Amino acid sequence: MGVMNVGVLSLYRTSIGKKVIMAVTGLIGIGYVVMHMYGNLKAFLGMEYFNHYAEGLRELGAPIFGHSHLLWIARLVLIGAVVLHTWAAWSLYQEAERARSTKYVKHVKLQANPAALYMRVGGVILFVFIILHLMHFTWGIPGVHPDFRWDDAYHNVVAGFKSYFYLPAIFYVVAMVALGFHLYHGAWSMFQTLGLNNHTYTQPLRLLSLALAIVIAGGFALVPLAIMFGIIS
Ligand code: HEM
Repeated sequence: MGVMNVGVLSLYRTSIGKKVIMAVTGLIGIGYVVMHMYGNLKAFLGMEYFNHYAEGLRELGAPIFGHSHLLWIARLVLIGAVVLHTWAAWSLYQEAERARSTKYVKHVKLQANPAALYMRVGGVILFVFIILHLMHFTWGIPGVHPDFRWDDAYHNVVAGFKSYFYLPAIFYVVAMVALGFHLYHGAWSMFQTLGLNNHTYTQPLRLLSLALAIVIAGGFALVPLAIMFGIIS
C-alpha cells in the first residue's frame, strides 16, 4: 500500500513537472504570437511601414546587440520552447496511455479525453503549419513561394498569398482556426496548471482564454483575408 502510494505520488509529481513545462513554454509561445500578430497588422499601413518593421526586427536591441543578435537569441529560446513543449506533450501522452492499458481483470477502454486528443492533433497541424510557413515567408523555397525577394517582406506576403489561386491564403486562415482552438484550450490548461483556477475564477479565466484565442487567431487571419478581398494589394 505504502509502495503504491509513493509510486502514485511520484507519477503525479512528474506529471505536474511536465505540465508546468507545457504551461511555461506555452506562455513563451503566446508571447511570441501576440507580438508577431501585432507586427503583421502593420501590413495595413503599407509596404514602407511593413518593411521598415521587418528590418527593425534585425536591429532589435541595437546598439547593445549587434545586427540580428537579439533576433537569434529569441529564435533559440523559441526553438527550445517548441522542443520542450512537444517533448512534454509526448511524454504526458505516453503516461496516460500506460495508465489506460494496465493489465487488469479486463481491459476497460476508458473514454479518451476529447480535449486532449484535439490538442495533440492541433499541435501536429500547427507544427506542419510552422514548417510550411518558414518555407513560404522566411526561406522563400522556390515552388512554395513563386517570387521570393530577400529585401521585400511586404511583397513576399502579398504575392505569396495571391499565388496558386489564393490557396496559401485559405490554408493560413484554416490554420489560424486550429491555432485559435489550441490557444483557447492551451491557455485554459495553463491557468489550471499554474494554480490560478478556483471556483471564483473559473468563468473569467475561460472568457480570458477565449478572448485571447479570438484576438490572436482573428488578428492573424485579417492579413490573408484582406489580401483575398483586395483590401491589401
Ligand atoms: C496570417 C498569419 C501569418 C503571417 C501573415 C505571417 C507572416 C510572416 C512573415 C512575413 C515572416 C517573415 C518575416 C521576415 O523574415 O522578415 C514570418 C516569420 C515567422 N513566423 Fe509568421 N506569419 C503568420 C502566422 C504565424 C504563426 C501563427 C506563427 C507561429 C505559430 C508564426 C511563426 C513565425 C516564425 C517562427 C517566423 C520566423 C521568424 C524568424 O525567425 O525570423 N507565424 N511570418
